Amino acid sequence: MAKDVIIACDFADAAETFAFLQRFTGEKPFLKIGMELYYAEGPQIVRELKARGHQIFLDLKLHDIPNTVRKAMRSLSRLDVDIVNLHAAGTQAMMKAALEGLTRVDGSRPLLIAVTQLTSTDQESMQKELLIEKPMDEVVLSYARNAASAGLDGVVCSPLEAGKVHAVCGEHFLTVTPGVRFADGDIGDQKRVTTPARARELGSDYIVVGRPITQADDPVAAWERCRRDFCSGK
Ligand code: C5P
Repeated sequence: MAKDVIIACDFADAAETFAFLQRFTGEKPFLKIGMELYYAEGPQIVRELKARGHQIFLDLKLHDIPNTVRKAMRSLSRLDVDIVNLHAAGTQAMMKAALEGLTRVDGSRPLLIAVTQLTSTDQESMQKELLIEKPMDEVVLSYARNAASAGLDGVVCSPLEAGKVHAVCGEHFLTVTPGVRFADGDIGDQKRVTTPARARELGSDYIVVGRPITQADDPVAAWERCRRDFCSGK
């Protein structure tokens, strides 16, 4: 399984995004476009970044009735992104409908991964507000199993859960993991963080890294450091 670092482009608009990316004059980094940038700029930002040669993870976390998600995924399949996602909480029926919508007439489709429980949801809010009584680990693994049964390619999870997800869903089931920080860096609002090297040891397939790269004095050097530590382990 090829490992890679995905830079979270949490920017307000296209101008900020392009100003950031103009520093990357060599190899093109894999990028994540989230709701902030997509809702500001629409599908054109995806087309432009693809045309510049970037691989794209479109992080829109769909969650609706199966029919609506099927049709939304059909629209997204025209964008030629590499990875898209949804909430596993939408049920297997929704995930299967999403896969149908995403698959193009020639049978090709972007990878589809599921968010299990957001890392901003803790055990207490899950129990008291969502009335889910089981321990977080069990919930995450159960949602991952549902995603695998529905035919999805992987999940977004914490690097700390990556090994268990692989054990339950198979080595080829992708784990895409945010919450990564350099050992000497600022953790910001993330709670359970790991270094790129530790994420590698724990079995993550892709790490999603935002501020440690986007806010660095030298973003290209920070990206290269992430790749060295995570992809090659050297
Ligand atoms: O700046 P930072 O490295 O914390 O960025 C992490 C990125 O991953 C952000 O875009 C954030 O929205 C996303 N993410 C996350 N935790 C999740 C799911 C997505 O941090 N559980």
